[in-house]
Amino acid sequence: MSPKLLHQPWQLLAHLGSREERSLPHHAVSTCDGDSPGGNNLWELNADSDTPVPSVVHSQPWWEQPHGEVASNHPLKCSVNPCCYFPCQHQGVCVRVGLGGYECDCTRTGYFGTNCTSPELWTRLHDWLKPSPAFYHFILTHFKWFWDIVNSTFIRDTLMRLILTVRANLIPSPPTFNSDYGYISWEAYANVSYYTRVLPPVPDNCPTPMGTKGETIKIVIEDYVQHLSGYYLSLKFDPELLFGTQFQYRNRIAVEFNQLYHWHGLMPDSFVIQGEEYSYEQFLYNTSMLIDYGVEALVESFSKQVAGRIGGTQTINANVLQVAIGVIKESRQLRLQPFNEYRKRFGMKPYKSFQELTGEEEKAAELEELYGDIDALEFYPGLLLEKPQPNGIFGESMVEIGAPFSLKGLFGNPICSPEYWKPSTFGGETGFEIVKTASLEKLVCLNVKKHQLLLCPSHEAMGNEENQGREFWSRALPQKLGPGST
Ligand code: HEM
Repeated sequence: MSPKLLHQPWQLLAHLGSREERSLPHHAVSTCDGDSPGGNNLWELNADSDTPVPSVVHSQPWWEQPHGEVASNHPLKCSVNPCCYFPCQHQGVCVRVGLGGYECDCTRTGYFGTNCTSPELWTRLHDWLKPSPAFYHFILTHFKWFWDIVNSTFIRDTLMRLILTVRANLIPSPPTFNSDYGYISWEAYANVSYYTRVLPPVPDNCPTPMGTKGETIKIVIEDYVQHLSGYYLSLKFDPELLFGTQFQYRNRIAVEFNQLYHWHGLMPDSFVIQGEEYSYEQFLYNTSMLIDYGVEALVESFSKQVAGRIGGTQTINANVLQVAIGVIKESRQLRLQPFNEYRKRFGMKPYKSFQELTGEEEKAAELEELYGDIDALEFYPGLLLEKPQPNGIFGESMVEIGAPFSLKGLFGNPICSPEYWKPSTFGGETGFEIVKTASLEKLVCLNVKKHQLLLCPSHEAMGNEENQGREFWSRALPQKLGPGST
């Protein structure tokens, strides 16, 4: 069919040579058969380049034609992914915009511009001063007398450190792609049965499902943790806060965190929905509650009903009591150290008595009888029985031990790393903006029918910046916590 068949995109790229800004329009639009004078030319996207481009090639990229030609009326002909041309230079990431457009994410590449080709000042200087690899190699493999001196001084360590950092920085961490996922995704990060890849495979399409993860972390920190902490300091989800510090972007759930998070004391004694009270027997496993009342009614009711207090000497509702018993059994099987040891481990003073722990006499005496010594008190019971903070939901230890696990888990997510935290990971600037402005209020209010939730402001009001409501919870919840269950 074509006189000059290009099987591989990189064969074409060899023709293009160095591509400057002008060679690729920002939102380049691909051409379809018949609607351009150029006609059947997949690579015409680059036709304004001054380097020669083959005039007649396949209508489809090689990876879309495993069994030969695609029919001339095939829709593939009209939807060429511009990222297939690798327009973004200097490790910029290509994101599709609409059908035929693209955007280069130049974040932290040291370059800017449509195709990340304009160097920032420091980059320009760095590039100008940087000797070639051949030069380094020559120096390193000649002048033995010189190296004999270097090797016996501190300069040896300095140079070795330089080599280690320069070389290691070329390998992304957290890892980026694998052979099935050419975009930053949970699967590419977490599925360790694949090799990782430094460069993505040649793209066919570029979906980017990382957005929901980012929204979740934003909401968890700025709405949920904010609410739980009771802090007046306004918590902020901004991964860039950690870019100047040593931080490992990974996390493993600890047994202690799993044990600590058994907050079944939060559960109320019954469920009040639109004025009707339902028992556990009526509520659990009863899916018709959701179907009949709908999400709006349930959110409205549960955000207004007072929760049980976790800390202090409240009892846990009988329906979830077995879970708490299970936690204690598990902790014995796993030989968890006593509560006071964990107090010390997390920077707190060990309690000297049960009275000091509970802040009262009666339960303290019972515990004394049960354990004999405050240093024998177990981890989970210690967390639940500690006197709560004034107006708080639980005691000091739950916060001091829980917060490090929680924050490490949230900020240790790979999307917070300099490698991932950029627009292209979230499908472009629009997706990045959604992540950076996510809130519980938006999540709920933009997903229920208009006017069905009295808590929600009008949709228009929610769109504007000043009204990026963190006040959702304060409208929803009573200021004071309830007395706890039973
Ligand atoms: C009606 C309400 C609830 C019921 C019936 C319930 C029931 C259960 C059950 C049966 C288990 C498994 C226990 C085991 O494996 O021995 C469990 C685990 C757990 N629950 Fe709940 N729960 C409820 C509410 C909550 C709430 C409000 C929290 C608060 C965060 C919570 C946190 C946990 C945690 C962290 C685990 C351990 C999960 C794991 O190890 O994978 N639960 N729950």
